[in-house]
Amino acid sequence: MRGYFTHLASMTLAVMVATPSAMASDLPPLEKKDRYRVGFSQMESNNPWRIAETKSFQDTAEGCNWDLISTDAAGSAAKQVADVDSMIAQGIDVLFLPPREEKPLIPAVMKAKAAGIPTFLVDRSVDPNVAQAGRDYVAFLGSDFVDQGRRVAEWTLENFDGEKGIIVELEGTTGSSPANDRKKGFDDVMAEHDHMEIVASQSGDFARDLGRQVMETLLQAHPDVNIVYAHNDEMAIGAIQALELAGRKPGEDVLVVSIDGTRDALQAIIDGKMGVTVESSPFFGPLACDVMNRYANGEEIETWVKVEDRIFTAENAADHIDEAY
Ligand code: AHR
Repeated sequence: MRGYFTHLASMTLAVMVATPSAMASDLPPLEKKDRYRVGFSQMESNNPWRIAETKSFQDTAEGCNWDLISTDAAGSAAKQVADVDSMIAQGIDVLFLPPREEKPLIPAVMKAKAAGIPTFLVDRSVDPNVAQAGRDYVAFLGSDFVDQGRRVAEWTLENFDGEKGIIVELEGTTGSSPANDRKKGFDDVMAEHDHMEIVASQSGDFARDLGRQVMETLLQAHPDVNIVYAHNDEMAIGAIQALELAGRKPGEDVLVVSIDGTRDALQAIIDGKMGVTVESSPFFGPLACDVMNRYANGEEIETWVKVEDRIFTAENAADHIDEAY
């Protein structure tokens, strides 16, 4: 219980930037009940971020009167669609869905809507040209990924002390909203600076091991790289391993910058191997509980319940490592 309230406070205090909301009447309503059958469809569990997010939902369940059905799609969008089908068949009242990729999960959103189940997208979104918040699902709960990429780029510009930045970018899962948006935010800022060049940009699927492998390959083609921008901390840690294996010195001759705020990333910052990580919090359970209850009470929900993110650098990483995951 202590964790439940701690995280509710930490996340809701930083959120609730309202954007225009569509009429809730287009959407399936949520009846007020003593207990809710809640579906949470996780996409994969191969990294600390996903494990922390699932735990946040599990830790929230009792305090929020949820009977939680949670699934793990093991990195497959097709399995995630099937998992949602199965939850619909089990009679869930409400669905929380982090869609692995923007397009393949649209059928899951539409099927839930057709079954009269209010759906909240959590931490990732779907293609807004096809499915829309306020019409096909209630709301998106999550960060501004474009802004995260932009903030990493701005920090890099302020802190890189070489003459020319030779940048390798490790992208997240192809077709996912954080990979698309974190790339846009970072690349748009860097495009305005002639002394910065992105020489390679390739997916490491948000995974540490693949990040390491991709970095090993890219290092052979671009041995002069001096900045690595990874779309998440797991790939940044993989890149650090690859750099060290190649005899490079992350933090000295290569600036590594990233997004999330995992324990390993904060430790890498403390150890001087990483420059910055912009927060992307996985602790969505308490926020999901709060937004769901507001919806059940008939409140109009903003289409984007925006989470605001902190920034972790050498100045404050040690202050936050004990709360990291
Ligand atoms: O959707 C959020 C991203 O997904 C996190 O940054 C990443 O680590 C996770 O896999």
